[in-house]
Amino acid sequence: MFETWEELEASIIGCKKCKLCNNRNNIVFGTGNKNARIMFIGEGPGADEDKEGIPFVGKAGKLMNMAFDGIGINREEVYIANIVKCRPPSNRNPEDDEAAICLDYLRNQVRLVKPKIIVLLGSVALKNILGKEYGITATRGKWIEKKGILYMPTWHPAALLRDDSKKIEFWQDLKQVVKRDREF
Ligand code: URA
Repeated sequence: MFETWEELEASIIGCKKCKLCNNRNNIVFGTGNKNARIMFIGEGPGADEDKEGIPFVGKAGKLMNMAFDGIGINREEVYIANIVKCRPPSNRNPEDDEAAICLDYLRNQVRLVKPKIIVLLGSVALKNILGKEYGITATRGKWIEKKGILYMPTWHPAALLRDDSKKIEFWQDLKQVVKRDREF
């Protein structure tokens, strides 16, 4: 574990710990407020994120930004990262070994940000952070507390692009997050 952002960021430059390094253009480390109370964790970069080196800048990210705007979440005030920092080929899910290796970086990011709330975007984030026994359909919208952090699992924004009915639930889940944050 690194105690500073400088050390952590330096440690990931040129990372070759897993095979995802072979096809990447950019490592997508994370973005936002490094002292955020709320952190969002997605799955892994897509083509747009790989090109820009910033999480959630593609279609799914734009939808998430619209929800943020509507609900009153300022993207600059929260911290956003992914389970894996490099794009899986053809946007497949990260494999277990890739996620396991990359999780060290994410855990270090969480340690440094010290968020009160972590929003888990979709099944990959949920299972890798809280455990394989959790399913997104049963768990979304429900608070889970672990080691002093409140977790809110919700749909991945890309799922909203495929299924309109999930938009309302996503919106409701984020509303709960904002409400809880205001109570701190
Ligand atoms: N999907 C993710 O899970 N993360 C991103 O950064 C972009 C799309």
